[in-house]
Amino acid sequence: MRLTVFGLGYLGATHAACMAELGHEVLGVEVDPDKLTKLRQGQVPFYEPGLPELLGKHIDSGRLQVTDSYETAADWGDAFFIAVGTPPKKGEDSADVSQVEAVIDNLVPLLTRDAIILGKSTVPVGTAQDLFCRAKDLANNILVEIAWNPEFLREGHAIKDTLHPDRLVLGRVSGGNAEMVTREIYSSLLAEQTPFIVTDTATAELVKVSANAFLATKISFINAIAEVCSAVGADVRAVADAMGYDTRIGRQFLNAGLGFGGGCLPKDIRAFRARAGELGASGALAFLREVDIINMHRRTRIVDLAKTVCGGSLLGAHVAVLGAAFKPESDDVRDSPALNVAGQIQLQGASVTVYDPQAIDNSRRLFPTLSYADSAMSACHRADVVLVLTEWAEFVGLDPHALGKVTSRRAVIDGRMCLESVKWKEAGWEYWS
Ligand code: UDX
Repeated sequence: MRLTVFGLGYLGATHAACMAELGHEVLGVEVDPDKLTKLRQGQVPFYEPGLPELLGKHIDSGRLQVTDSYETAADWGDAFFIAVGTPPKKGEDSADVSQVEAVIDNLVPLLTRDAIILGKSTVPVGTAQDLFCRAKDLANNILVEIAWNPEFLREGHAIKDTLHPDRLVLGRVSGGNAEMVTREIYSSLLAEQTPFIVTDTATAELVKVSANAFLATKISFINAIAEVCSAVGADVRAVADAMGYDTRIGRQFLNAGLGFGGGCLPKDIRAFRARAGELGASGALAFLREVDIINMHRRTRIVDLAKTVCGGSLLGAHVAVLGAAFKPESDDVRDSPALNVAGQIQLQGASVTVYDPQAIDNSRRLFPTLSYADSAMSACHRADVVLVLTEWAEFVGLDPHALGKVTSRRAVIDGRMCLESVKWKEAGWEYWS
């Protein structure tokens, strides 16, 4: 099939490359000239394991093309995917859907035959219905169907999550063609018995935000338990392991530590609450505020721990921060807990040096005042305390003996409970988590 994907960020670039891998002819539309130039050369403007190879393969084969032209896009496809961003509105929690609306406004007047638009972006419930009305006003004697096909991919695992998803969800208006077309697009995934939930658009929109709200809640739940464990000297990891054996609960997303960040979970739970408020159901999601508070408290708590380790003040302390990305296998620093902690520590008068295997360039743009090193070893040079804030395999595999030779003091705070504490203690380190 001929598919068009609007927005070639983390979600859209992955989706476009994966649709080409499934055998479709794909046209990606990106309006940012820098991104477009890179993509045309087969380069991915962010870090996602395996994506440069997949994207390069299909740019070379011609099965994936990129453009900034809506005219070309309007003529191209059997179906049009929307994968643009939905960041928070300035100074508000609610989602800004203007980029999604802009795709409709620019595309629909150019369409000359009936079209199916499949939204993938995470949007407030009710958006697809609003877009349908918007498209109807703009359409020139054609029928534009708007359906929602939310995406559940995780950064760092984006290709696997797209080519072998846990489930496919489609929200559509009954009586239209969206289900038939979507079944055809994903026929090879459906042949693998991937569960396919077909529902109305509001339900599909809610599936996505509910899943993210649940994941955030699970993380904050274990972090709240971690606080209680700290108070009594209990082991939160053992609690999580034992709870996780209960198949009703499951072990995933019960890793206590610095909490969640990134471009999705924090903004999505806030936008979800804001939307519930608009719908007159704010009380129903009041608990998400608590989830958010617990999560943000993890950041201040680790700053306080660093202060205690440094003798009660961070003023003049040398602090090494290992990790800046919001999670390993990503260069994404949007709402990164690691970078937030590094910034807070610096604001309290410490000299902070950050190292991350992939996220230095993005971190430097966001926090130009922090110092950056090009290796873990050089970040730790003369450090009074080392903070491990993203659980990259590189940090898990660090040799504490070698690292201890360059630091001022052998003190480590394991913000992700990812280090082998025994190994570090045997190498003479004071260890906190
Ligand atoms: C998330 C959802 O998982 C995905 O389904 C959705 O499509 C987009 O949002 P992503 O933002 O890529 O994906 O990251 P995820 O793997 O969910 O991790 C989010 C944050 O939670 C990270 O900061 C991670 O470090 C943290 N986390 C995760 C924990 O603190 N503990 C855990 O046990 C798991």
